[in-house]
Amino acid sequence: MIELRDVTKRLGTRQILEGMTFAVPKGMNYVLMGPSGTGKSVTLRHVIGILKPDQGSVQVDGQEVPAMDREQLMALRRRMGYLFQNGALINWLSVEQNVALPLEEHSKLGKGEVRDRVHEVLRMVGLQQAAEQFPPSISGGMKLRAGLARALVTQPEYVLYDEPNAGLDPIISHQIHQLIAEVRDRLGVTGLLVTHSRACATECGDRIGIIEKGKIAIEGTVEEMIASDHPLAKAFLGGGSD
Ligand SMILES: Nc1ncnc2c1ncn2[C@@H]1O[C@H](COP(=O)(O)OP(=O)(O)OP(=O)(O)O)[C@@H](O)[C@H]1O
Ligand SMILES: [Mg+2]
Repeated sequence: MIELRDVTKRLGTRQILEGMTFAVPKGMNYVLMGPSGTGKSVTLRHVIGILKPDQGSVQVDGQEVPAMDREQLMALRRRMGYLFQNGALINWLSVEQNVALPLEEHSKLGKGEVRDRVHEVLRMVGLQQAAEQFPPSISGGMKLRAGLARALVTQPEYVLYDEPNAGLDPIISHQIHQLIAEVRDRLGVTGLLVTHSRACATECGDRIGIIEKGKIAIEGTVEEMIASDHPLAKAFLGGGSD
């Protein structure tokens, strides 16, 4: 379980988080929504310990993340995949080499084992044919799937997804959402997702929290949030939103 309690964070002169509280139970996808600049990515960075809260608690499985030393943080990051916006691939490495990176950094597997694992996740995301290609020559949807493969290659218990469908058309987005739901259902991965997209939130989320003024202003199951009369729920999940 990922749990934030009363987290506050000031960056520069702005109070970004102010009482951020939510919990992601094991095996669920929790979706964070909210206007741009409200601290969604900042919140994800607290969960992997890149940022420390000014006040409040950030826990993964009962362990306080800000109190971890370097080694504990490395151990945490081995258990946690991170899907960056646009996949954040390295252009001069092939898809296969990109996906292998976390294993080369975080594991002592031999070359053959690395290859097997990489091809297994590439198969899962439907990219086995593209293993030898380089990021500049593949589409946005393929980049995102390669990013997802890289996030999954260490067999993490948790995956943090930052805007997994930004810039993708509705059909490719839908495939990505299905893949994220499958990662939860088949691999038992617990997910924390950031998105602006109603389709993403409802197709692969279990619970949705919407941020306003540095904290979760309203939260509930996907069904509760769709039915809610709260103006934020209406704005992000109502019929007119995408
Ligand atoms: N390292 C930093 N130093 C100073 N300010 C920062 C830093 N990182 C983020 N911010 C500011 O914190 C605010 C929240 O940023 P964040 O990236 O979390 O927004 P977001 O909710 O993810 O927005 P978007 O939907 O546009 O991605 C922004 O105003 C941003 O400029
Ligand atoms: Mg962001």
